[in-house]
Amino acid sequence: MSRRPILVDCDTGIDDALALAYLLAEPAVEIVGVTTVSGNTDAARAAANTLSLFELAGVDDIPVAVGAHDFRGRAYAGGAPHVHGDDGIGGIALAAAARVHDARPAVELIDHLAARHPDLTVLALGPLTNLAAYAETPAAAAFERLVVMGGAFAHSGNVTAWAEANIHNDPEAAAVVFAQEWDTTLVPLDVTMSQTMDATDLVRLDAIAGALPRALAAMLPFYLDFYAGRVFADRRCALHDPLAAMVAAGVLRGVSVSSGQVEVRLERGERGRTVSSRGSSTQRWVRGMEGSAVEVLLERLESREWPD
Ligand code: BDR
Ligand code: CA
Repeated sequence: MSRRPILVDCDTGIDDALALAYLLAEPAVEIVGVTTVSGNTDAARAAANTLSLFELAGVDDIPVAVGAHDFRGRAYAGGAPHVHGDDGIGGIALAAAARVHDARPAVELIDHLAARHPDLTVLALGPLTNLAAYAETPAAAAFERLVVMGGAFAHSGNVTAWAEANIHNDPEAAAVVFAQEWDTTLVPLDVTMSQTMDATDLVRLDAIAGALPRALAAMLPFYLDFYAGRVFADRRCALHDPLAAMVAAGVLRGVSVSSGQVEVRLERGERGRTVSSRGSSTQRWVRGMEGSAVEVLLERLESREWPD
């Protein structure tokens, strides 16, 4: 079976780190590049984190390019240290990698990989700033598939009552991306909030041999501490980015899927809210929206059938 080429655009981040580790181990895909964007931490730090994690995994041939520091509508203002730690990875003081980031800016690496891999899947795990900038380049190609962790439809937001963090950080960029004629799938909080890991899972992870699982197990208590009591009554955390990675890899698919235009609200109060033209059980039909059809995974996910 040939492996599906995948470009990951991320703000590495504890759950981004888990997603990258999963993708390195997933036989269905090959990571052909990583581009970083500010979000959980700044774009340069996200690249440094990614390079350190790759070094722990013994990976030295996947290009990692730094992307946008500031968002379209506002300057980067310090990320989410309360969720991901000051360094974005739970304050575990990972050594800097020997390898430095790719000399090309993120948009150039996206352009290069899109031209080289007509069957490219792009997995966006942070704000959509880099992808919006790419979409506006004159030679922008349609990816075979774009999978985005982001949005909240029938579920409440995680930064405001309505908005999810990746979309809220750069709603103008999200609006540009959702208007592209790309085969786009959104993996919103509606599904990621019910995919969790708990302290027992962490013990299991910690028992896996290797420097990368060890680093992941070391950073996760910070993330669990954020969630415990504040978001969930017990000690568990949501696996936003790993879930989107499994969808991008073709390992999971939506059982309840809505396909239609997705509008991103830009006005104060509702800034970063995502609304689907197809509605959901708690949304009314919204008319007159601009944009291409975007598939939204709304309820639950099922596994592919594994070959014997
Ligand atoms: C998303 O925002 C970031 O904090 C996480 O890494 C994830 O991509 C969840 O809203
Ligand atoms: Ca992320």
